[in-house]
Amino acid sequence: MPACVIATAGTVNTGAIDDLEAIANLCASEGLWLHVDGCIGALLAIAPQSRTLVRGIERADSIALDPHKWLHAPFEVGCALVRDAKAHLCTFKVTPEYLENAPQGIASGAWLHDFGLQTSRGFRALKVWMALKEHGVAKFGRLIEQDLAHARYLTEQINAAPHLELCLPTSINIVCFRCNPGGLSEPELKKLNIEIMVRMQEAGVAAVSDTSIRGRHCLRAAINNHRTRRVDLDILVDQVASLGLALNAGIVGARN
Ligand SMILES: Cc1ncc(COP(=O)(O)O)c(C=O)c1O
Repeated sequence: MPACVIATAGTVNTGAIDDLEAIANLCASEGLWLHVDGCIGALLAIAPQSRTLVRGIERADSIALDPHKWLHAPFEVGCALVRDAKAHLCTFKVTPEYLENAPQGIASGAWLHDFGLQTSRGFRALKVWMALKEHGVAKFGRLIEQDLAHARYLTEQINAAPHLELCLPTSINIVCFRCNPGGLSEPELKKLNIEIMVRMQEAGVAAVSDTSIRGRHCLRAAINNHRTRRVDLDILVDQVASLGLALNAGIVGARN
């Protein structure tokens, strides 16, 4: 008997988002627990114009999200939100004799370790609380919109560049693309683009990563830095194209 459906709000590779509303409807009619993996995209819910991308997430029974991604918290602070506090406690609460609750004193408070597996735990929540107090939710929402706008801009520049190829439509802040000068096989394209990526990383130009989508290798730009400007994206596009053409023409020798 299935008990739970795990929907994704933002995949690692491409940022793709499931139809959360449809999945929530299914879970409601089948009596299934709905968990949303929103480590990448749950915080779209605070973006003023783009929150509709995760419509339905508010119906989840539980959500995983990573404040060290779109809330800009220092690494790491993963977070799980569970709607039903009683179910949450019943799952994890273990009360050895030395941690029994008391009607008064320090032991009269709620034990945070009852909400998870760890007993000794760091105070990770402090940095999230402080950032929210200092900047407020609205500012983080605006920064998410800024990243999305940057990703749309980068996508436009890639589409306009003759030797660059978008590997699939951009859905959030993740842009998958590659240099394709023409006439190269898939393995040759992979070799070329890895060389471009490594050269840019080592020169300190841009820190793109790479991945494969439906068997096609591509570069992956995940735009998450509040200091990123359009000019940085222009440099990225220019570097990928010029390095790719130079490497392909043998002007710049590829290393072994
Ligand atoms: C989509 C997604 N789910 C889950 C996670 C959390 O994984 P972990 O807690 O192992 O870092 C991540 C982390 O990067 C992620 O991107």
